[in-house]
Amino acid sequence: MIILSIETSCDETSCAVVKDGGEVLSNIIVSQIDIHKEYGGVVPEVAARSHIEVLLPVIDKALKEAKIGWGSVDAIAVTVGPGLMGSLIIGVETAKTLAWTLNKPLISVNHLVGHIYANWIDREVVDFPALCLLVSGGHTILLEIKSHHTITKIGQTKDDAAGEAFDKVAKLLGLGYPGGPVIAEIALKGDETRFNLPRPMTSPLDKKNGNFNYSFSGLKTAVLSIVKEGIRKDEIPDLAASFQQAASDSLVTKVMWYLEKNKDIKTVMLAGGVAANINLRETLKAGLDKTEFKGSFIYPEIKYCTDNAAMIGVAVFYNQNFVDPLSLEAFPSGIGRLLS
Ligand code: KG4
Ligand code: ZN
Repeated sequence: MIILSIETSCDETSCAVVKDGGEVLSNIIVSQIDIHKEYGGVVPEVAARSHIEVLLPVIDKALKEAKIGWGSVDAIAVTVGPGLMGSLIIGVETAKTLAWTLNKPLISVNHLVGHIYANWIDREVVDFPALCLLVSGGHTILLEIKSHHTITKIGQTKDDAAGEAFDKVAKLLGLGYPGGPVIAEIALKGDETRFNLPRPMTSPLDKKNGNFNYSFSGLKTAVLSIVKEGIRKDEIPDLAASFQQAASDSLVTKVMWYLEKNKDIKTVMLAGGVAANINLRETLKAGLDKTEFKGSFIYPEIKYCTDNAAMIGVAVFYNQNFVDPLSLEAFPSGIGRLLS
């Protein structure tokens, strides 16, 4: 089955051609980072306009790179939400029009489910039950995946998403946008033990109460207080490294707590933009090595962690949600179907 997939939920315009739920024949991504950089974050109206300008050429390029024509496409898949409404509409309306005029089936995909399925790219088997830490710019959710159709939420952030915290802290430290990659880079030169930052919601009482939720706004405020007190320029790498380690520790702690109680988990996986963070991967690996967990620890290749259409084309292979091209509508918020 050959899927042409479209992803425009935020500031990346992407189209991919994916074969049989794992083989990526092409994955074109046009990032708007340079456009939004000067504003220090994504400007929704500008993002939508930019998707309009580049989406059709991106689709053409995806077909060319996959060396196929429309005749070989079995279905069109599109991200329907969550995301920025203006951005989503461009992808959804384009997909609807293509499906209707070319008489192809149309499949809608939840963006978060797409992130999870990036773990299936170039990998045939993922053993269930799996525990997934989904960490992106808009969401931070711990999920148990019992089967392709049973994805259950265990906990989620009560305020900022992990990626949002990286972005806001980078702005506070004057490091630019997007925050995740710049903090990760500057943190390489820093000492993560230099500043004592909080690990919110990880107290023994939280553990006793089975609190699998996250919170990052207090951590961000702690960084802000240090900045307000005044730090030298040469201390910024230490503060970035200390923040990154506190964020990783907070995220990983809940994974460890869940594994302690659920010994049947066979796979632990990361997904979403923050899954690209090497410190998070290493902190989780180190945590798992200290437990009796004998399953697999997996995460997508860095290029499939952040927003891309390939993950959307993979997700539909396992979760086909055929829709009427005339009635599909984008949903900007909420986590939607498949995540109970
Ligand atoms: O999944 P994604 O591309 O978009 C959303 O669905 O939100 O995630 C984007 C987020 C941004 O907040 C960005 O700062 C973060 O992922 N990110 C990272 C890294 N690369 C991207 N965070 C930490 N370390 C990274 N290397
Ligand atoms: Zn995303």
